[in-house]
Amino acid sequence: MTGLANKRILLGISGGIAAYKSAYLARLLVKAGAEVRVVMTQGAKAFIQPLTFQALTGHPVHDTLLDEEAEAGMGHIELARWADEVIIAPATADLLARLAAGMADDLLTTLCLATEAPIHLAPAMNQRMWSHPATQSNLLRLQGFGYQVIPPGEGEQACGDLGQGRLPEPEDLFAYLEALTTKATPAKDQPARGLTLLLTAGPTREPLDPVRYLSNHSSGKMGFALAEAAAQLGARVILISGPVDLPTPEGVERINISSAQELLDECQKRLQETDIFIACAAVADYRAADQSEHKIKKTSANDELTLKLVKNPDILATVAASEPRPFCVGFAAETREVEEYARQKLIRKKLDAIVANDVSDSAIGFGSDDNQVTLLYRPIEKPLTDAPIERLPLDRASKKIISQQLLKEICNLYYSAQDAK
Ligand code: C5P
Repeated sequence: MTGLANKRILLGISGGIAAYKSAYLARLLVKAGAEVRVVMTQGAKAFIQPLTFQALTGHPVHDTLLDEEAEAGMGHIELARWADEVIIAPATADLLARLAAGMADDLLTTLCLATEAPIHLAPAMNQRMWSHPATQSNLLRLQGFGYQVIPPGEGEQACGDLGQGRLPEPEDLFAYLEALTTKATPAKDQPARGLTLLLTAGPTREPLDPVRYLSNHSSGKMGFALAEAAAQLGARVILISGPVDLPTPEGVERINISSAQELLDECQKRLQETDIFIACAAVADYRAADQSEHKIKKTSANDELTLKLVKNPDILATVAASEPRPFCVGFAAETREVEEYARQKLIRKKLDAIVANDVSDSAIGFGSDDNQVTLLYRPIEKPLTDAPIERLPLDRASKKIISQQLLKEICNLYYSAQDAK
């Protein structure tokens, strides 16, 4: 049996020629035991009849927002709450634009705003519409909101053009959803398959007034490299990132945040679904006690300005003390006594493992492409005790290679910890 059995899948369909493929997707999902409800936009109904989906899923299609009868049955908020996963296939350029603008002008866009379920978008459109900067910038914005984008395929299009913009085949969309929901036995090359990893990356910005903030030099490179490696190793990856200038790695669900408090809020929303939490973000330790409503002015009378700062929440320690508690991994960037400080943090924050990183060497520190780290972890048979900490030094290598090595080790530790329970 696949992980899709009894899963509640909300299938959204917008108005593109590829809508016919979604009928087959609905069929595959129902065959796998999923409960499927279909929501169509008005445009979608011009391409395929709602009756087709009603026959395939055994439920009437939802297509109107302000309909008394539909609201009396399963209202839009109820439908938004009902879903375990939302997939929109095809997602047209128009739908992406409306979602990116946060509009709620029909049932499907309203549901996307109202649901807490993960939303997966399978865009499909003419190749020029796909590559248009407006579409690409809408996609980036949507990824920033946490939407997962399933890249369209390349090839011949219904309009005769050649290029990117084809809706993936229904079997591929089905396999994508199946992989999300199946906790499979890990294959050797995909040790993270079936796991959900939550990662934090980049700096935070702590506003002082409407134009200024406190921050740090974190580039986010290590966190993004880890997110990419985790996705390649088969994990579902949710990356919560501070402001950085890096593209979202393929297959990674990205959420943009700015302050430490926002980072904590976004992490907490996702704990229920997280197996492994890796805190790579350089969170500002302090924020302004009072954020000034207006720009702080310099005056000729004052040569000095005193800012009152208060401590930010420790996101990693908060997650490690929460219930449910994922397997928790931290990073310790230090300039001296690196391993000793890392060891202390592992114990103080009640972590399962910590990556000790010497940032005094500019070749392996902030912003560089290489790294050299040591993984410190608790002996699996004695978790969260005073038993001596184990250490695994990794040779200097690119952040990409280090990330792959680290993730394989972290997955092994995670599975050993699960077995020991
Ligand atoms: O305490 P320190 O900042 O040195 O700890 C580093 C580790 O803790 C990193 O994994 C970092 O992402 C995490 N951290 C956090 N929230 C904070 C401070 C650090 O999650 N407020």
